Amino acid sequence: MSQLFAPLTIKSVTMRNRVGVAPMCQYHAIDGTAQDWHQTHIGALAMGGAGLIIMEATGVSPDARITPYCLGLWNDAQVQALVPIVKFAKQQGSTMGIQLAHAGRKGSSERPWLGGTHLTTKQGGWDTMAPSELVFDTDGTRLWKTPQAMTQADIDAVQQNFADAATRALQAGFEFIEIHGAHGYLLHTFLTPMVNQRTDNYGGSLTNRARMLMETVAKVQTVWPKHLPLGVRLSMVDWSEDGLSLEDTITVAGWLKEAGVDVIDCTTGGATPEARSSINNGIAQQPEMAAAARAGTGIMTMAVGEITDAKQAETIITDGKADMVLLARQLLRDPYWPRHAAKELDDDVAALMPDLHKLFIGKNP
Ligand SMILES: Cc1cc2nc3c(=O)[nH]c(=O)nc-3n(C[C@H](O)[C@H](O)[C@H](O)COP(=O)(O)O)c2cc1C
Repeated sequence: MSQLFAPLTIKSVTMRNRVGVAPMCQYHAIDGTAQDWHQTHIGALAMGGAGLIIMEATGVSPDARITPYCLGLWNDAQVQALVPIVKFAKQQGSTMGIQLAHAGRKGSSERPWLGGTHLTTKQGGWDTMAPSELVFDTDGTRLWKTPQAMTQADIDAVQQNFADAATRALQAGFEFIEIHGAHGYLLHTFLTPMVNQRTDNYGGSLTNRARMLMETVAKVQTVWPKHLPLGVRLSMVDWSEDGLSLEDTITVAGWLKEAGVDVIDCTTGGATPEARSSINNGIAQQPEMAAAARAGTGIMTMAVGEITDAKQAETIITDGKADMVLLARQLLRDPYWPRHAAKELDDDVAALMPDLHKLFIGKNP
């Protein structure tokens, strides 16, 4: 058996293999509520054999979304729309996770294929919040809104929203939560000195800048069952000498481990226009950063970034760089990638298939 297709147990949850679906915004929700699109998209990924599916960045309040078309978890209708999606994926053998997020100063945006620019209130947008009043695109082009610096009351409210969304995630049947601490969204903007210029308890030293993340984790832990896994996605570096270094984020990973977080999903970038995208040239280095965090702290890691090939994925696991690999774009190309990878690694393809597929196409994915 390959290591990639060996089960992974975190707390009470056993994932059938170590191939995970990275969180991917779909921009197809209406009022934060999942649609047929999500059922079909997630259903295909579950039938394809993924061990874990992490659903997209899901806003913990309306103004926490990236776009007006992103998923949310601030009301019961949103829970009810997710129930059948989660149920179907679990029936197919996938563990279901969800990424809880606040977009901060990058929220209130148009969908990326329409330019991704900030939307005015008239266009369906909203006022944005951040640790400091720093605009993302200083040239006034794409993300031009100046966010409001958050008050203590804003901070408390956002943390409570994360906890309430975690409660709803549990009601919808999710067994894994990933807190989004990356890509220049709210929690990352607290962590990075490039965007956080606060002079209170939430700014300055790394301990202070990490406070918002640590408190949010603690708040989620008040409602998220101790027997279920909890993860955090971190941008391990800001790709700038002025930003977070790998040493900084490994320190934070250690604090998260001590706090009871089970796994770090290791990505990079996104805090500034220079490191705008999580899909840029540096991301092939991310598995090495997952390896450094795992070796440095003993926390479990997920490696992500340009993983497209079965042997490449297998090597990340066998070399001990990560406990799980996450794929994004390759699984959009081919939701049945896990089956093809299992075949290439001489593993049990049929084990990943529903009975009907097993009977009629068996070991021929
Ligand atoms: C369509 C799309 C949507 C994405 N949405 C999210 C998201 O909701 N949350 C997140 O943390 N990253 C998001 N990402 C980044 C991916 O999770 C992943 O880190 C990145 O694409 C690199 O992995 P890949 O090389 O396998 O595509 C998205 C990527 C894509 C392609």
